[in-house]
Amino acid sequence: MKRSLLSLNVVLILAVFTRGDEVKERDELLRKAEASVKAAAAKVKNDPNRPTYHLQPPANWNNDPNGPVFYKGNYHLFYQLNPFGDGWGHMHWGHFRSKDLVHWEHQPIALWPSKDRGEEHVFSGCAAVTKKGQLMLIYTSIGKRLPEQWAAIPEDDSLLEWKKHPANPILTEKLHGNVKIHEWRDPFVFENGGRTYVVCGGNLNENKGGQAVVNVYRAENDGLTEWKYLGVLFQHPDKDVKNIECPLFFPLDGKWVLIVSQGRPVQYFVGDLDATTMRFTSKQRGVMDFGSYYAPNCMLDPKGRRLLWGWVQDFPDGKGWNGCMTLPRVLTVADDLTLRQIPAPQLEKLRGERITQGNSAVTGEYVLERAKGDALEVAADLSLGTADEVGLKLRRSADGSKAVAVSFNGKKLNVAGLDVPFVLGPGEKSLQLHVFLDHSVLEVYANGRACATRIIQAAPEDKSVALFARGGKAEVKSIESWPIHSIWETAGR
Ligand code: FRU
Repeated sequence: MKRSLLSLNVVLILAVFTRGDEVKERDELLRKAEASVKAAAAKVKNDPNRPTYHLQPPANWNNDPNGPVFYKGNYHLFYQLNPFGDGWGHMHWGHFRSKDLVHWEHQPIALWPSKDRGEEHVFSGCAAVTKKGQLMLIYTSIGKRLPEQWAAIPEDDSLLEWKKHPANPILTEKLHGNVKIHEWRDPFVFENGGRTYVVCGGNLNENKGGQAVVNVYRAENDGLTEWKYLGVLFQHPDKDVKNIECPLFFPLDGKWVLIVSQGRPVQYFVGDLDATTMRFTSKQRGVMDFGSYYAPNCMLDPKGRRLLWGWVQDFPDGKGWNGCMTLPRVLTVADDLTLRQIPAPQLEKLRGERITQGNSAVTGEYVLERAKGDALEVAADLSLGTADEVGLKLRRSADGSKAVAVSFNGKKLNVAGLDVPFVLGPGEKSLQLHVFLDHSVLEVYANGRACATRIIQAAPEDKSVALFARGGKAEVKSIESWPIHSIWETAGR
């Protein structure tokens, strides 16, 4: 009896010691990481190319959005962050928080690589809540070993501090038996029929092409720490696709939606899930965004809407910052099973005074005198009329010699030099352009079904806006614009 009490004490002391060490290591690593971001932030603060209403870290590199979740009254969005530089590396999870999806605050870095346990990077993943209400972040742990899926849990409901789950790793490649999955990563949890599942990306033939797959697993306990491999949910139909990253899989409007980052552009598939075999069959497919866009992630909001953010990439190197998120988009499935995306309606709160222009036609160029700015939303309803091309010019120089154009010629859109396949669909009479200009970011929606996000270059003083038509007279049913305020609770970038 005495002996077992003694050994229990030893175990407890050891456990306390180990936990204490873990906390110390975490705090030390996070202190360095935070200090590095802070030092870099001071240098980039006044860069006129930095967006003010697209989410991004205070400085340095970010890529994928991770683990969006609404938890106890707040939206939380995490992201791949390199605290130590403006290029990819040292992957941590940065953290943003918002009450209304519109105004945001930077939070302390949430996840760090646990060096003492051989972790080198904390890769992408998701948030999940167990049946007992335990919030977990589930992510890919990278070290000098095969990838593993790990979990982290918050110290309390503020979600400011996190600890690694004692059950880690929660999924390993052992689950696959004889099947070898290469590039195994990026867990995304979903529910079906009262059970919890996770999908992970990868490929079956060492990136040779033709066998890029989404794998599916079922939770075998309520704590989401034991999982069973159920096989391949989906194999990409295109033979030139080598690998799938960041799969997202969820029910929407009576169908199942699968979004895969298989290289650019990111694709979506809409179809059906056979819940017995856990195989997904696609009935429709399309492109999420034709521009500088990758690795989106999504969540359900309290009203049951599916919200999605993507990573905006392709910014110039060496500026002390690189990357941001798209605006939050609301997804729906249309009757023809295409996926529709609109900017979250809550964003209207960011609008300044509305400016409308009363003209109904345009030939040549028409400058919208009052619509100047580099943080603007523009909504235009345009038809070609007798013109060959109609569009908008933004970041236009005072003499009109320079501008960034978004245009339509009946066969395609052109968004800041990028061709985007787009024709008016049956029943569509005009082009509904919805454009968000945020300094060097241009996020464009056309009729809620084609999106393109672009990085643009313009001189800080070039801020005028114009409508234009080439080769005839185009019709302008309406044109509205708004200056857009910053999303940051504490003013600035
Ligand atoms: C996608 C991706 C993910 C990975 C993460 C690493 O951009 O490559 O597959 O988890 O980025 O930063």
